[in-house]
Parts: sequence; structure tokens; C-alpha cells
Amino acid sequence: MPVHIIVGSQWGDEGKGKIVDHLSEHVDIVARYQGGANAGHTVVIGKQEYILHLIPSGIFSENVTCVIGNGVVVDPAALLEEIEMLRSFGMDIKGRLLISHNAHLIMPYHKLLDTLREEQGAKIGTTGRGIGPAYIDKFTRTGIRIVDLLDRDILRTKIKANLDEKNKMLKQIYGKEELKLESIIEQYQEFDKQIDELITDTSYYLNTALAEGKTVLAEGAQGALLDIDHGTYPYVTSSNPTSGGACTGLGIPPTFITKITGIVKAYTTRVGNGPFPTELTGDDGEQLRRWGNEFGATTGRPRRCGWFDAMLLQYSARINGIREMALTKLDVLSHFDEISICTGYRLNGKMLKTFPSDEKRLNNLIPVYETVPGWKQSLTEIKQYCDLPAQAKQYVARLEELTGIPVRIVSVGARRDQTIFKDV
Ligand code: IMP
Repeated sequence: MPVHIIVGSQWGDEGKGKIVDHLSEHVDIVARYQGGANAGHTVVIGKQEYILHLIPSGIFSENVTCVIGNGVVVDPAALLEEIEMLRSFGMDIKGRLLISHNAHLIMPYHKLLDTLREEQGAKIGTTGRGIGPAYIDKFTRTGIRIVDLLDRDILRTKIKANLDEKNKMLKQIYGKEELKLESIIEQYQEFDKQIDELITDTSYYLNTALAEGKTVLAEGAQGALLDIDHGTYPYVTSSNPTSGGACTGLGIPPTFITKITGIVKAYTTRVGNGPFPTELTGDDGEQLRRWGNEFGATTGRPRRCGWFDAMLLQYSARINGIREMALTKLDVLSHFDEISICTGYRLNGKMLKTFPSDEKRLNNLIPVYETVPGWKQSLTEIKQYCDLPAQAKQYVARLEELTGIPVRIVSVGARRDQTIFKDV
């Protein structure tokens, strides 16, 4: 099993952190391939909850080396804060964390522009972490990469060129104060001192390790429906969380990929704006939010909640190549007498064959539901699949039937031991 990709199958927040932490025990390397500190991966070990934004969730397995790949946009301030947080719990990342020299840096003006754009028009509901503006610079080829930290002259020249442009934007478009060149240069030179020994050619490292027979878990952030190409554009993030992103975001060839697991929440959530066909705005949505503690791990924003959407999952499975699901938060549904599942979309009296790509159809379609009985029984201490209540097993079986994908793991709580492996 050389490379096993873990993808978020819906709009993110499916519980990837927990599953990656769990699976890490059996691999050598865990590598993050896109996104930045917009992600919030929650891992609960014993009574302690850890929230990671950049460092792969494999960091809690002692024998695992963690890699931040070239596809990630790195905010050094957020990274150092995270390293410090782990240190405060007695964990040392020395020798266990590597950062790609090709990864792009998030700069102070990225965060500022992200927030200003949201305030003055875009209304995507971003996390404000500077992700979009950093990827804009990457694709306009003006971005500053981790490798630039290693040469003071190059770093200065690049920051200056960027700042000349960004200060004009800040002043002329947004009426804001200009940022000071020297203080940014100083700040980033200081970052370099602190992360210098983590910087390397991670693509070379990963390919060499794979050639030696080592195993890699590729960890995606966000989810397929937030993918810049395949998601509900423009209400998406600026990278490719889908499985294809793992190859470009890590610099490894597709021939190494042997397994793709979709992390799937037993219902649906989304943070930020944009279409959400099965959203529940009334009491049931409130119950899901309350019982599922559906608040953003990065921004604390309440997540929008709704029933499981099989149309969305079929689409996600197709673009990701998902062959097995890890179904999370099944325990949250224990509170409902009846549970609805969206089995299809109707638009203008006709059933749609595929997930629509435009906002208008997504906003106007009518989800078709079937309702199944709930189990009204706590699942949180169940250890074996056969011990789940019959209605819970029927729910899982129905999701498998509708999506055509077997469920391999069922999660019934945030702790490591609340994970049930199901034979397929
Ligand atoms: P950005 O990634 O901060 O640019 O935000 C773009 C969209 O992606 C917004 O709707 C965010 O709420 C959403 N988003 C970004 N990261 C996450 C995440 O980790 N989980 C869920 N939604 C996210």
C-alpha cells in the first residue's frame, strides 16, 4: 500500500483529522498536499483535544514523519504557533516534520486582502487566512516560496516587488494604510531562522521513501465540494482537495496511488456561503449542530447542517475515485426518531442525472428524500460493527447501496477508541 489518499468527500469538516490519526499508526509518512491554515483538523487523544491547521494529523504517531507538501500555502506564524502548541504538550517535532521548499508562503498582505475582499464584495465566507490571495500570487507567478527564505537578497527583492503592487491596491482600492517593507522582511528572516532545518525537497524525500518500500498517507484538507475545479464554484477554496491534488501537491506520480478513502460525515455540513441542497434551516438543523458540535475548528463559525446527500456523494466518489468510505459522526444521528436521506434531485419536474455545476440550478433544485427509522440509542461505547442497533446498520447499508461504495470504518465519537472497523 504505497500511497493511501484520504479525501474529504463533502464540504470539509468530515473528521479527516481523527481518521488520519488512527490510520497513521500503520504508515511511515503522513503528507499534507493542499490548503493552508484554513483547515482545522481535530484529534482527540485521551481527554486532550488538539486542533491542527497545517501540521499533518500523523504527528501524534511517534514513528511517523510528517510532510507539508509543495501544494500547501504555509503561514509561518501559524506554523510556529502550532509547533509551540505541540511543544507545550511535551511533543517535539524535531526530525519528524519536513516542509517542501516549493510550498508558497502566506504573507501579511494576503491575509489583509482576503479580509478586505470579503468585506467589500466577494462574500464567499472565507476563513480570512489569506488562502485565496496566496494562490492568486502562485498562479500569477509572483508568489514567494519557502525556498526564497534561504536567500536574503532574493527574499528582499521579491517582498519588495510584491509590496509595491499590494500597497497600491491597499491604498487605492481599499483606502488602507500601506504595509512597511522592513518590518515584513525582518519578520520573515526571523521565521527562516526557526524553520530552516525543516525545509527540504519533499518530493525527492517522498519518492525515495516510496522506492524503498515505505508507506505514505496523503492527507487532504477541506473537501471535494470546495475544490477549485470541481466544487460549488465560486463558493470554494483555492486549491484541489480532490484526490488528483495529492500527486501535484506532493510531487509524486499517480502510479504510486493504491488506495483512496473518502471521509464521509453521516449527514452534511458546510461553513461559509454557497449552495447546499439538503440544508436544514429549522429545528432539525439546529439539533444536528448542537449534537454534532458543528462549529468551525478554525473560525468558530456555526456550520450549516443538513441531511446526507447521496447525489453529492455519487459525484464526489466519481471525481475522487473513492473505493471505500470512513463514515463519521454516526452517533450524532442517535437523537432522531426518523432520519432523511436525499436520494436524488428534481428540477422543473425532471430528475437530474448528475450533480449540477451552476449556482442557479443548485439553488433551485428540490431534493428528493426517503425517510428511515432512527435507532434512538447511544452508539458511543459500541466497539464492534455487529453490536450496532439494527436501524443503524440499515442506515449504513442504505448509504452503501445509494453510493455504490462500501463503508470500511464507522466513527461513533471523537476519541481514538470510538472507531469501528467493518469487514467489507
Ligand atoms: P478559504 O479557504 O479560507 O479561502 O475559504 C473558502 C471557502 O472554503 C469558505 O466557504 C470556507 O468556509 C471554506 N473552508 C476553508 N477551509 C475549510 C475547512 O477546513 N473546512 C470547511 N470549510 C472550509
